[in-house]
Amino acid sequence: MIPYSKQAITEEDEIAVNNAIVSPLITQGPKVVEFEKAICEMHGCEDAVACSSGSSALILAYAGCGINESSIGIVPSITFASTANALRHLGAKVVFCDVDHESGLIDLQSLEESLQSVRKTTNFKNGVITPVSLAGRVAPLKEIRKLADQFEMMVVEDASHSPLAWSDEDGVNVRSCSCEWTEFATLSFHPVKHVCCGEGGAVLAKNKDLASLPRRLSTHGIEKNTDPNRPWMYEQLDLGWNFRLTEIQASLGISQLSRLKSGIIERKKLAANYHRALSDYPFKDFIGLPDIGDGHSLHLYVVRFLEPLMRDKAYHFLKSKGIASQVHYIPVYKHPYYKNQYGEIEMEGAEKYFESCLSLPLYPGLAEADQSKVIHALSSFLEEQKR
Ligand SMILES: Cc1ncc(COP(=O)(O)O)c(C=O)c1O
Repeated sequence: MIPYSKQAITEEDEIAVNNAIVSPLITQGPKVVEFEKAICEMHGCEDAVACSSGSSALILAYAGCGINESSIGIVPSITFASTANALRHLGAKVVFCDVDHESGLIDLQSLEESLQSVRKTTNFKNGVITPVSLAGRVAPLKEIRKLADQFEMMVVEDASHSPLAWSDEDGVNVRSCSCEWTEFATLSFHPVKHVCCGEGGAVLAKNKDLASLPRRLSTHGIEKNTDPNRPWMYEQLDLGWNFRLTEIQASLGISQLSRLKSGIIERKKLAANYHRALSDYPFKDFIGLPDIGDGHSLHLYVVRFLEPLMRDKAYHFLKSKGIASQVHYIPVYKHPYYKNQYGEIEMEGAEKYFESCLSLPLYPGLAEADQSKVIHALSSFLEEQKR
């Protein structure tokens, strides 16, 4: 089966992991510090806290924004459930916002309407907006910052899909993960992502002050070295978690991070192949292609089927030919947990995007012969549909 994504592990990765296993410290050692430094240097943010997953990174970032039971968080309906779940873990109310039906990115008009409505109808004390830079395309962070300032909200970019992505927003270079427009950004190091640690994540922060609470909370809320005369002394200041990344995971992360740029170049090349092939007959009238401008970091290559029900048929057809594809994502409000919390919700852009989207195989190491197989299978599928 050709997977829709998978990790790329090299000999250097293996050596890094093997060295870490036999080193004196296999957790809370120098490799985590080195990994955090490398993340900051690469993304241009001031501080980073490595942690156990992208989901725990979101919890830590929201906690760093002061989110609690009297807060709200506005999230796009098209994302992985964690973006919203992390708010619920802190007791906050989730407000879903619609997305653009072609890109799946948060829709600014819907965001503004949500902000106006929550201001009128709820009594929240503080709040956060979480744009998701979906598939590797940067959400409109500059515009979102403006709205956030107007409505006194914090901003956390869920950048799980978008390390090193950038966009041109009204002539301004807007970089994902830089935290120039946001308080925090979060990354995931799950195996299908650009950088793999097995499991892992990071909170990227605008400055060291903002990073200090997520850092402490990631290790039980404990502050060490609080008394110079008693070096063993530590104090628990907050109720935190053990969300730490191990030295073994960090060593893999450092090794993987050194190939982040080349991995994106390879993804771009593969995406360009899809683009070229799918712009032509017989695809043109049936498939909408993603906008993969220069700054897209291509976590996913998502096509849209323009006719109703065609996406599901295509998924099954590809599977029958040994090709895995995936739907990113089911609108989060459709999950039974959220229906139980907030009742039935239906948003036009999110429904349209969800019904049409399909992520095709894309990962460094995808052989061109396998990619041709995907394109050929899609072509056969469309020929069959036309009959
Ligand atoms: C957009 C988004 N946010 C958050 C997460 C959560 O990351 P993790 O699986 O590392 O907890 C993911 C992972 O799939 C994701 O795609």
